[in-house]
Amino acid sequence: PKKDEEQMIEAHELLRKFYHHLLINTKEGQEAYEYLLERGFTKESIEKFGVGWSLPSWDFTVKFLSKRSFDPALMEKAGLLIKREKDGSYLDRFRGRIMFPIQDAKGKTIAFSGRAIGGDEPKYLNSPETSIFNKSSVLYNYHGARAAIRKQQSAILFEGFADVISADRANVDNGIATMGTSLTEQHIQMLRRVTDSITLCFDGDKAGMEAAYRASIMLDKTHLNVKIALVPNKLDPDDYIKNYGAEKFQNDVIGASLTLMAFKFIYHRQGKNLKDEGDRLQYIEVILKEISNLENAFERDYYLRQLADEFSLSLEALQQQQRQIFYSLKKKGKGSDQKTRSMITLAPST
Ligand code: CTP
Ligand code: MN
Ligand code: MN
Ligand code: MN
Ligand code: MN
Repeated sequence: PKKDEEQMIEAHELLRKFYHHLLINTKEGQEAYEYLLERGFTKESIEKFGVGWSLPSWDFTVKFLSKRSFDPALMEKAGLLIKREKDGSYLDRFRGRIMFPIQDAKGKTIAFSGRAIGGDEPKYLNSPETSIFNKSSVLYNYHGARAAIRKQQSAILFEGFADVISADRANVDNGIATMGTSLTEQHIQMLRRVTDSITLCFDGDKAGMEAAYRASIMLDKTHLNVKIALVPNKLDPDDYIKNYGAEKFQNDVIGASLTLMAFKFIYHRQGKNLKDEGDRLQYIEVILKEISNLENAFERDYYLRQLADEFSLSLEALQQQQRQIFYSLKKKGKGSDQKTRSMITLAPST
């Protein structure tokens, strides 16, 4: 007899094919299919990513699985069915949703994420954690993108599935995404095996900037080369591609990726009015602290000069201040979140 995990995967594989068939070949799937085309998905991308449609029925999947002799209790453990408390009967977890199959590193379907087409909540419904699906160690499209990542020696991390699929359509085929969660050490280990360069291309909103900041620091700590591609006008990569096309996405977004420090200059500027003296001093101080955290003396010097130029400050004053922060950070031990207070005033150089 097959092991539980094998049966769970087999059920996911059969359902992936059937949901896909429902989406592209049946009347029931037509509205969802048109919704996807309207969003800019193409037939090819729907095929390539195995996108599907689950019927708005309470027991379509229950029957589909029982007809094929899968044990409903096991299918509940696999996250495909839900058990009703009151009478112990089963119902479908995914009903009336666009189905994105989630694959493991070998390309086997181990979970689904289902997107509502109306305004239903939640927007995305994911499979629960199971013995075959652990969110913190799964990256969407890892299997599909791995060869491209190796070849290009670079991976692009997006926030959402739609971003990965749209980027692929725009010939950016080394894209992956987390399951809507933060990046974990396990994700980083998976990526490390195939490349040492990661570009973050998160949504252009405040949440995306914050997530990019946190992820970039994690990646940098593990000595991966990290770059940050910013999407303008608070769009996400999927919206951007739809509005401006593949070429602009490749050249103006991915092609214009920032180094970590250049990103930090922009990140810390958010919400600050640099014409205001208080904001300006705060900004300079936080950048000095970032500079002090750089390991390489040459890099520290480089960014100090940049800062001095930008604000017409004397390089000597900045250097002196930066050294002070550097040693106080050293004393406290790096990584301390304690705010470093400075006392000197930064007089503009004349
Ligand atoms: N997400 C989730 N559950 C939600 C909302 C989001 O799991 N209720 C995850 C999904 O993996 C989603 C990602 O977080 O892809 C990013 O969220 P968001 O930017 O809101 O969604 P988009 O990917 O932009 O989705 P869409 O374009 O379909 O609206
Ligand atoms: Mn197909
Ligand atoms: Mn978002
Ligand atoms: Mn988004
Ligand atoms: Mn989106």
